[in-house]
Amino acid sequence: MTTPKTSLTGIKPTATPHLGNYLGAIRPALRLAEQYRTIYFIADYHALTTLRDPQALQGYIYDVAATWLACGLDPERTIFFRQSQVIEVFELAWILACLFGTGHLLRGHSYKDAIAKGQKDPNAGITFYPILMAADILLYDTHVVPVGKDQKQHLEVARDLAGRFNHHFGPTLVVPEPLIGEAPLVPGTDGTKMSKSKGNTIPLFAPPKQLRKLIMSIKTGSEGLDDPKDPDRSTVWQLCRQLAPEAAGPMAEKLRRGVGYGWGHAKQDFFEALDAELGPMRERFEALRGDEAQLDETLAAGAAKARPIAQATMARVREAVGIRRPPCPPKETLRLKKSGGGG
Ligand code: TRP
Repeated sequence: MTTPKTSLTGIKPTATPHLGNYLGAIRPALRLAEQYRTIYFIADYHALTTLRDPQALQGYIYDVAATWLACGLDPERTIFFRQSQVIEVFELAWILACLFGTGHLLRGHSYKDAIAKGQKDPNAGITFYPILMAADILLYDTHVVPVGKDQKQHLEVARDLAGRFNHHFGPTLVVPEPLIGEAPLVPGTDGTKMSKSKGNTIPLFAPPKQLRKLIMSIKTGSEGLDDPKDPDRSTVWQLCRQLAPEAAGPMAEKLRRGVGYGWGHAKQDFFEALDAELGPMRERFEALRGDEAQLDETLAAGAAKARPIAQATMARVREAVGIRRPPCPPKETLRLKKSGGGG
């Protein structure tokens, strides 16, 4: 019997998940639970590099937790927790930072993107971001990390750091592999890639009314009701194909034929198919999201499973770098000594 390899990923809670996140990240990561030991966490400390609104952050954390659970994450099977509940990650991040060049960080994505966006002096958290992410990964003996293309460079940092550590201190850390899924191009309402920064997203669990409104706002060609239309070049059909595939075949046929089937009809068909598809998940989401205490409990139970893995790694890491330390003496002993000596 071979132990399954570990797949790990982090989800930054800085937005409410949308259809693009579902197709590009959530669904593929959940499928990996069939083959791997899966460890998925909410990267709440990473969110602080950009978010300074405690209420919003807290809300996004619950949104993300409820979303992944509603989409089928089984917390009995996948270790699901909050990054902040396993504090060993900071200890490892520091040790790794001492192995990495500052120049590398200043040439990294997270720093350069902030500069490109006009920030004059990006905060040190933005600069340090890839190191904390490497610690997230290396702390749990991760073999594969499912991420989008935009995270590839961060994965390289994690691999590089594992290699450096093992080179200097002997084989200690697992060198992870990126698992870059062929991310489907999920178009947003304006036809370009769905992304929060472009304001063209469709929230995964929008209430039906809002969902319909957003679908009706999707950009289309200007063909008339009876003109033949090309499904391949239409955003509505692209989305339908990925999210409600059973409805896509008939829709393509009707669009090509044209006759009495306009874009408004296609949008209505898509809305109905999508609503049927997402409805049961949305109900689960709402029930989960409405019980924050229960979400806290689920995530804390996940942290209790994650922490021993982290602690075992840290024991190896400390030993390797020469921070071998006896356990702290019990408080009682300290007090006795102090009062005995000082008089
Ligand atoms: N940087 C990732 C993102 O923005 C989130 C993340 C944090 C992560 N830690 C991680 C992803 C560890 C994979 C592994 O999407």
